[in-house]
Amino acid sequence: MTREVAYKVWKLYLEKGVFLSKGIEREIKKVSLSDQNMAFLFELLYGTCRQKAFIESIIKRFVKRKRTPSFALISLGVYQILFMRSVTDYAAVNESVEVAKKCGLKRESAFINAVLRKVVSEKSKLKVVPSDKELKNASLVASYLSYPEWIVKKIHFGFGTKKGNNILASLNKPAFVPLHFFNTNKCVDKKKDYTISDIDEEVFVMSPSQKASVDMLEIKKGLKVLDLCSSPGGKARVIEHLLKGNGELVCVEKNIKKLRLQKKYRETKALKLCNSKIRTNFLCADVTYVNEIFLSGYFDRIMLDVPCSNTGEMSKCPEVRWRLKEADIKRLSKIQFLMLKSSSKLIKKNGLLIYSTCSLFEEENKNVVSKFLEDERNFFLEEEEIVTPNLKSPFGGYHAKIRKVTT
Ligand SMILES: C[S@@+](CC[C@H](N)C(=O)[O-])C[C@H]1O[C@@H](n2cnc3c(N)ncnc32)[C@H](O)[C@@H]1O
Repeated sequence: MTREVAYKVWKLYLEKGVFLSKGIEREIKKVSLSDQNMAFLFELLYGTCRQKAFIESIIKRFVKRKRTPSFALISLGVYQILFMRSVTDYAAVNESVEVAKKCGLKRESAFINAVLRKVVSEKSKLKVVPSDKELKNASLVASYLSYPEWIVKKIHFGFGTKKGNNILASLNKPAFVPLHFFNTNKCVDKKKDYTISDIDEEVFVMSPSQKASVDMLEIKKGLKVLDLCSSPGGKARVIEHLLKGNGELVCVEKNIKKLRLQKKYRETKALKLCNSKIRTNFLCADVTYVNEIFLSGYFDRIMLDVPCSNTGEMSKCPEVRWRLKEADIKRLSKIQFLMLKSSSKLIKKNGLLIYSTCSLFEEENKNVVSKFLEDERNFFLEEEEIVTPNLKSPFGGYHAKIRKVTT
C-alpha cells in the first residue's frame, strides 16, 4: 500500500510538477498508513527526488527506449535497491512488480522486473565512488551527486571543488528538525531528542543559520522592530519572545494567505508568549515599496528575510534543485537589492538591519550587500556570515549586519 501511494505521488510530481508535500497530502487522505509506513513513504519519495539525476543516469544505462509509463515506478525501485538499507533487493523488485499490476501497468510488469533485476545484479559497480580527478568535473558530479550541472558549477566556483562537493553531499542528507529552546542555547533534533508533544511555549524550530541571523539582530526590551517578508512567522515569534513583553513589532508579508495563517497561529498556539505590552501589527504589502508606507527612520531594528533560491535548505526541500533555473538567480538578486534599498530608509540612526537569505550563492548574498553599500554611504557592514551545510548540520544561509551610521 505504501509503495502504491509513493508511486502515485511520484508520478504526479514527474508528470504535473505537483509538490511532494501536496501529492502526499492528497493521496494519504484515501488510505490509512501507520507512522512507520509514513516514515517509509517520506524516505522513499524525498530520497528518490534528491537522487533523481543519479537514478535517471542508471536507468539510461539499461533502458534504451524512450521514457515508458513505468519510468516513475522503476525510479522508486532503483532508489530502494541502491539507497535503502532497510529494504531487501527481493522486496524492492517484487513489490514494484506488484504495484505495477495494481496500478494499470500489468503489461509493463515483466519489463520492470527485468530492469530492476539488472540493477540488483550490477549494484556494486553502480555505487563506485568517482576518482578525485573525476570529482572536479562538474558534469560528472552533477550525475553522481544528483544536481543540475549549473548548480554544481556555481557551488564549485563559490567554494572550490572539494568543499563544494562536501556541501552538495551534505545537502543530500535528510534534514533533521532543529529544535531550539527559548531559555538556553541548546539545539536538538526534534525527531530524536525531544518527545513532549505540546512544545509550543518552550521551543521553536529554525535552522541554525536562520537562528544566527535573529541573534545578530540584538533584540532588547522596548525596541521598535520591523520584520519584513515575515511569513510563515518563525523569526517574528522569536523576536516577539526576545522583546520580553515590551516593544513594538510590525510584520510585513506580501502573501495574504500566509499572513493570515501567521496571525492565526500567533493568536492561538503562541498566544501565551505574547505580553499585552507588545504591539504586534500585521501588514500585507510589497516590501519593495515599504519605504512609502512607514515614516523614515522609525525602526530600531529591521529583519529583512528576503525570498531567495533556498539553495542552503535543499536538504529540507529536495524539489528546489529541479525547480530552480539559472535565470532565477539574477531575477531574485534584483528583487533582493530593491528590498534592501527600500527597507533601509526606515531604519533609525545607529539602528541595525539584518539582511538574511537561505542561499549559498554570492549573487544573492555578498554581492547584493556590496552593491547596496556602494550606493549608500551612511551604512556600515559590521559583520557577515555564510553558513555552509555540513554532514552534521545540512543547512546553509547568509546574514549581514548592517548599521546605519549617519542620518
Ligand atoms: C524566506 S521567506 C520568510 C520566512 C520568515 N521570515 C520566517 O522567519 O518565517 C520569504 C517570504 O517573503 C515573502 N515575499 C516574497 N516577495 C515578497 C514581497 N515582494 N514583499 C513582501 N513579502 C514577500 C514570501 O511570501 C515568503 O513568505
